[in-house]
Amino acid sequence: VQRASKTLSFTPLVPDITRRVLGLDDDTVAIVRQHIDPDPGEPKGFLADIHDLVYSYFGPGEALNELSFDAASELAKQVNSYARTLQGSRDGEDTVNLLTWVRHFVAIATAQFLYGDENPLALHPELEAAFWDFDHGLGGLLMGILPSITARKAYRGREALARAFEEYLTQNRHLPGPDGRRGASPIILKRVSIALQHGWTLRAAARSEVSFLFAGIVNTATITFWLVLHLFASADLLATVRADLAACLTLDESESEGGTKSLTVDLTALKTCSPTLASLLRESLRYTSDNYSTRLVKSPTTLPGGYHLVANAVVQIAGGTMHADTRIWGPDAAVFNPLRFFSTPSTSSSKSSSTTTVDKVVNDDAEGANQSATPSTTATAEGRGTQAAAASIHPAAFRAFGGGKTLCPGRHFATTEITALVAMLVARFDISAAATPSPAAAAAVDDEDDDNNNNNIDKTKSAATAARRRIEIPGKEDGVMPVHVLEPKKDVMVKVRVREGMEGVADMGVRW
Ligand code: HEM
Repeated sequence: VQRASKTLSFTPLVPDITRRVLGLDDDTVAIVRQHIDPDPGEPKGFLADIHDLVYSYFGPGEALNELSFDAASELAKQVNSYARTLQGSRDGEDTVNLLTWVRHFVAIATAQFLYGDENPLALHPELEAAFWDFDHGLGGLLMGILPSITARKAYRGREALARAFEEYLTQNRHLPGPDGRRGASPIILKRVSIALQHGWTLRAAARSEVSFLFAGIVNTATITFWLVLHLFASADLLATVRADLAACLTLDESESEGGTKSLTVDLTALKTCSPTLASLLRESLRYTSDNYSTRLVKSPTTLPGGYHLVANAVVQIAGGTMHADTRIWGPDAAVFNPLRFFSTPSTSSSKSSSTTTVDKVVNDDAEGANQSATPSTTATAEGRGTQAAAASIHPAAFRAFGGGKTLCPGRHFATTEITALVAMLVARFDISAAATPSPAAAAAVDDEDDDNNNNNIDKTKSAATAARRRIEIPGKEDGVMPVHVLEPKKDVMVKVRVREGMEGVADMGVRW
């Protein structure tokens, strides 16, 4: 389906989808329909121009490096500010909903590095909640039946965001200010200017930015939550990743005043320093992403295998279903194995480079290259010893970033951003369960202790302590319209403390 891009295309479906999801007006939708799916040499419409811009901007190069640096710097600022507040608090501890906690860092930082100092979320903090209302009601908006009534919260959230983006653009807050105010990043300025060149109104361009903010935040935030959750739920995994990450973190006490330290995250080293983190990211994406690549059949098409598709039919590639298929991933497809994609330079089959980067492990086959990461045959971090899938997996089987012409352009950027944020959080904080664990979690700790500990008194004590602190991993909420990485079925409440040894860190920054 992916390869037949001449006859099977997502683009013709875009005008109706964006009309419903973003609330675009008729005139704008008519502009979107012009030259919508041009062949080479034909005039390009709005979508083709935006596609070219976004894919070239996010491709490897200086622009991508700059944006990644800005993103990681903003994330570091958010984490610094949280750590300062935490340390200033009475008991130095905070109880949070882990998903909401991680999402907040990503949402605020993304709005900042994409849209500058006077971005809509900075000026109207209540829009963060509106954003997630919009996200949670996308299915209702997409149905398009009286959305102001049937998808009320999402509709209101979207309208509040659209109004704020309109105010932002009309008041020129996207431009740098004379007072040193940072404006929007170059990619946003270009997106807006392309929209205006094609005859969009500023009001419609504002709505389009709601969708870009959405693309920048939703998957990144939710998958980072899953990574942090798995790390803090498994002492072994956390210890391994923390040891690996030591190679990308520099703690500097030399220039400190009053005993404060600074921490620097090296984004270049981060690309290669933890094969375990790279594998965890890819496995988390395999396990929790659930999206459908959708294509309109433009003309009758026969697929290899004899499937005949009639014109105007819609075909979908069901990512979540493929990620759970034992014929692709082996008998343990249903098991979360953080080491499934563990790959070091010596085990990597990559021909292009002797270094296995996180980016390579996470993205290689999405681009149609050979699978670089050989699935691990080692035990999971929980020590269950599951056997991973066969060594050779079809390049198109990993669907987290979509594929073909709609392959996520932000995948390289997101990989850097996610690993940087995870590095910052695991370096700075200790996270444990907030609530008393369920009997199942306590029993799991008991079992683990039976395996590891022969001393009965110590065993009872350590089981009790560990059970108090152990974080349970809930299932994924799969009863929703699948558009992105799935959320957990239950809230995960945790306690956050500044990690021992990190108390004096007043500042954290990044470098390439
Ligand atoms: C873990 C993080 C991410 C995941 C899992 C992800 C996944 C996806 C998926 C599945 C698609 C649709 C592909 C299809 O229809 O076949 C997509 C499209 C897109 N993504 Fe991402 N994405 C992530 C992060 C990002 C980030 C950080 C950005 C930008 C800042 C971004 C920008 C986009 C854009 C602009 C599109 C639309 C492409 C088009 O329609 O031409 N993504 N992404």
